[in-house]
Amino acid sequence: MLKVGLLGAGRIAGVHATAITANRGSTLVAVSDINAEAAAKLAAQYGAEARTTDAILNDPAIDAVLIATSTDTHSDLIEKATGAGKAVLCEKPVDLSLARAQACQTVVAKNGKPVMIGFNRRFDPNFSALKAALDRGEIGKAALLSITSFDPAPPPVAYIKVSGGLFRDMMIHDFDMANFIMGAAPVSVSAVGTSIVDPAIGDAGDVDTAVVTLTYADGRIAVIKNSRRAVYGYDQRVELLGSDGLLQAQNMLENTVVKSTTAGVTGAKPTYFFLERYMPAYAAEWAAFVTAVSARAAMPVTLEDGVAALALAEAAALSVKSGESVSVRSVIGWMNS
Ligand SMILES: NC(=O)c1ccc[n+]([C@@H]2O[C@H](COP(=O)([O-])OP(=O)(O)OC[C@H]3O[C@@H](n4cnc5c(N)ncnc54)[C@H](O)[C@@H]3O)[C@@H](O)[C@H]2O)c1
Repeated sequence: MLKVGLLGAGRIAGVHATAITANRGSTLVAVSDINAEAAAKLAAQYGAEARTTDAILNDPAIDAVLIATSTDTHSDLIEKATGAGKAVLCEKPVDLSLARAQACQTVVAKNGKPVMIGFNRRFDPNFSALKAALDRGEIGKAALLSITSFDPAPPPVAYIKVSGGLFRDMMIHDFDMANFIMGAAPVSVSAVGTSIVDPAIGDAGDVDTAVVTLTYADGRIAVIKNSRRAVYGYDQRVELLGSDGLLQAQNMLENTVVKSTTAGVTGAKPTYFFLERYMPAYAAEWAAFVTAVSARAAMPVTLEDGVAALALAEAAALSVKSGESVSVRSVIGWMNS
């Protein structure tokens, strides 16, 4: 039985507390948050103790921690937790800064404890089935990947200001999805972005609508479209054109009823947002972590995957600023220098 400490008691921590307690292989021992009231409330809800982060990390009876705190704390907490001998599942992104995330990799390599990054969409049954069909050769060789990822409504501008921006906060999932499906990093990133949904997002120095093109060494292409607003719900689709066919992962709908009348044919909207769409994915993500830690096997999504996605976010942000295509190698090298 994996004994777990949960760091953070905010929005996504509640989702993870559900997954940890529902899994037969893990038990939630304690929850921490700089907001002690939030920690006490979440801990009580799941029959766990509220503690400080240090008390969790110093408890030898705790095997693993799940880091669900604000993004700017992730690298520090990954380093502290692995230094204290814990296995870690940390929410995305690894950090707001690529250079800091790379420094974290060095520390983790020294500490020698497993770290998984929470790219939950890899565990979505639709996207994982698409990837499995590709790997079985069912559409031949991949050529053109299209990822659509629209949120139903933008977050408050106060959130935007600390989020790291659309590429690090939101499109990071899609960069990882591209890396996951294509099985390689692209060589260049070309991005355009605008603040057409809310000019206040532009005033805060961010974009709310963006299109990114990734090009690969062997000639493949991926296109990612993001918007912070889709009035009909959470639009999450992946389409992959290959040499022998096409794979499409469609939206999850609120229900499957299709109404056909003389007026036309209509159906339900997509589910509202990530809590509605991805609950099975969060549970499967946690199950994969528990299985890998228990078997001392390789993590299914690694810290390196987290850094690779962050490098693409960094390149996209640079491309929007410069109006030029950015080489991924130059971003990684530049951040290292
Ligand atoms: N994978 C996903 O689908 C997904 C969805 C939402 C959020 N996230 C990620 O999860 C993280 C948290 O997002 P959220 O929406 O839950 O935010 P949130 O603001 O609701 O929760 C963050 C919590 O962390 C606490 N906190 C901050 N610094 C801390 C510290 N040093 N020690 C302990 N607690 C601390 C805050 O008090 C807050 O309660 C972010 O990095 C975000 O990018 C991932």
